[in-house]
Amino acid sequence: KNIALVAGGYSGEYVISVKSAAVIETHLDSNIYNVYKIVITRDSWTYTTSGGQAIAVDKNDFSLTIEGKKVTFDAVFIGIHGTPGEDGRLQGYFEMLGIPFTSCGMVTSALTFNKGFCNKVVAALNVVNVSKSVHIFRDQPYDTKAILQELKLPVFVKPAEGGSSIGMSKVNTAGELPAAIDKAFKEDVQILIEEFVKGREITCGLYRSEGKFTVLPLTEIISSKEFFDYEAKYTPGMSKEVTPAEAPEEVAALIRQTAQELYNRLNCQGIVRMDFIWEEAGKRLFFLEANTMPGQSENSIVPQMVRAAGKTLQEFYGTLIEDCLK
Ligand code: DAL
Ligand code: MG
Repeated sequence: KNIALVAGGYSGEYVISVKSAAVIETHLDSNIYNVYKIVITRDSWTYTTSGGQAIAVDKNDFSLTIEGKKVTFDAVFIGIHGTPGEDGRLQGYFEMLGIPFTSCGMVTSALTFNKGFCNKVVAALNVVNVSKSVHIFRDQPYDTKAILQELKLPVFVKPAEGGSSIGMSKVNTAGELPAAIDKAFKEDVQILIEEFVKGREITCGLYRSEGKFTVLPLTEIISSKEFFDYEAKYTPGMSKEVTPAEAPEEVAALIRQTAQELYNRLNCQGIVRMDFIWEEAGKRLFFLEANTMPGQSENSIVPQMVRAAGKTLQEFYGTLIEDCLK
């Protein structure tokens, strides 16, 4: 089968995307799949042959012409974090072309990628607590005093559409808020200011195959920094990731059940990693975010979960492809 592995993208997560795609490429079974890695940037969509020749994708039908022969794809493995691989853009394009791909569809991707809108939808589903937040837009007036009347400090300030904690700050005092807002607005035209929930950060990776869920072992993130920021995420040793998480069984069960419920209600497909905070004091579970394009780099969490489940990455990536072909 011909598989296009799309990598790169336009966002600050480009570097992580390249690392994820390298892991995916290494573990796709070459006895079954002919893998063509296509790097998408703002300027070009390119496949590079083993001889070093750069070939541009024909965007009319997402095909390549190699030595006069046209190559089309049975499926696309999307390996791009951030835009345009995680936010519904490529999903919409492949949906239009009728080419199967390994992720959530256009609407789910676009919704979950926007933390401001996603929080509102998830809160309305009434399956999990969602921290109080304010979603503001760069071209609309906002009032930091009013925000601080609405939200209790500390708060997190994040680009609404971002990942890997880029542009994100934790704000402990009112004086720090304007700078944190400016920093987030450098990354995005809309941002989210969200009340901090003190608790244990636990994440759940899951996918559905032939109608049956596989819920991977949970991971607890114990960051040595103030929060699990970009550096803590990708510098080995900067955070402790415990897989399987050492959470009480009733908490683990609640997380697994909530993740499945959200996966269904948000109409997800493929591997999704849902991040939660377990507030021990109040014994409440809070939704943090749904990642529909979770990192696959050597330092990312999903590969650790897959290995802890006793599966190989080869089996796992193979399942994702076979499932999207059905
Ligand atoms: N946004 C990064 C890649 C993640 O969620 O793993
Ligand atoms: Mg994320």
